Amino acid sequence: MKALITAGGRATRLRPITHTTNKHLIPLANKPMIFYAIEKIAEAGVTEIGININIGDKEIQQAVGSGDHWGVKITYIEQSGGPRGLAHIVKNAKDFLGDDSFIFYLGDNIILGSIKRFVEKFNNDHLNALLAFAKVPDPERFGVPEIRDGKVIKIEEKPSQPKSNLAQTGIYIYDHNIMDAVENIPPSARGEYEISDANTYLIDKGFNVGYEEITGWWKDTGKPEDLLEGNQLILRDLAEKEKEADIAPGVTIQGKVRVEKGSYIGGKSLIRGPVIIGKNCVIQDSYIGPYTSIGDNVRITNTEIENSIILERAEIKCGKRIVDSLVGHSSIITASGDSLPWGHKLIVGDNSVVEL
Ligand code: DAU
Repeated sequence: MKALITAGGRATRLRPITHTTNKHLIPLANKPMIFYAIEKIAEAGVTEIGININIGDKEIQQAVGSGDHWGVKITYIEQSGGPRGLAHIVKNAKDFLGDDSFIFYLGDNIILGSIKRFVEKFNNDHLNALLAFAKVPDPERFGVPEIRDGKVIKIEEKPSQPKSNLAQTGIYIYDHNIMDAVENIPPSARGEYEISDANTYLIDKGFNVGYEEITGWWKDTGKPEDLLEGNQLILRDLAEKEKEADIAPGVTIQGKVRVEKGSYIGGKSLIRGPVIIGKNCVIQDSYIGPYTSIGDNVRITNTEIENSIILERAEIKCGKRIVDSLVGHSSIITASGDSLPWGHKLIVGDNSVVEL
């Protein structure tokens, strides 16, 4: 069995961060999102992985490399013709996939449990396709299955009137018959080749399409609030490590807190976990509250931060309380009042969201 991970697309809902960073490299608990997908696949015993990237993208290759780190071999596949849908990704990977079965894994999905049991079910039940579903409050955002007598009879992509409260998640297992489907479905009304239509095609042709429900935690990280929730869930399971940082005597550390090498925490700071702080950071007279991930080389002075993701090299010294926020690489947030006229002075990138 092989695996195919998606790492292309446009990620418009995560702008402005995705103007400069590929969505799949946004870190959750300081680890790029796509690394979690690779880990899950490697854990299921699959070692040949194709990663679908946008034409000309070098960022993913630079960050992920050859796969040696996980004991897997990674092949990068450019999506010729541009991001034209999930079924198009599968069709475009035909040479890599050959006649093998494969796990199709959307690189922006985060799942906490193992995917081994899906592979086992696919093999034991001799399925042509296995789909993983999860109960959601807002099925209209997803591919939604219609199930009758325990069998999937149709998958509708983002239906206005969903036939169930289940979402088709970003984990699929297929045998070679999916090629027939992706080569024969027409584009949808939004102009994409939908994986939902390919799945319905298989069902209509009488192939054995099974499903399994994800009962543990699963998230499609399409929107900023999803990223914060993903970050929370991963931090909740944070394994505590020896703190390798320089922590001054006046500092209070509570709960699970991981601080990497070269970082300094000083003054009257309070760090209340779960929190992860990267390498070479300086935290001075600040409160870092639960579910916060701070990337490498960040400086935080005289500020309170909770439930947020702060990317590398950001500098925050505003004397305010920051919550539920996503702060991009090398951003600067300072206190106003040093210069007249008084007021909030913002240099905000395109598509940013600021709540004052
Ligand atoms: O997350 C589950 C949902 O994923 C399913 O319920 C839907 O049925 C399925 O269509 C998909 O919906 P999304 O709207 O969330 O898909 P999105 O456009 O976010 O793309 C999913 C992944 O594939 C993401 O890693 C980006 C990548 N991608 C997307 C497209 C359209 C590509 O690499 N190339 C593409 O052409």
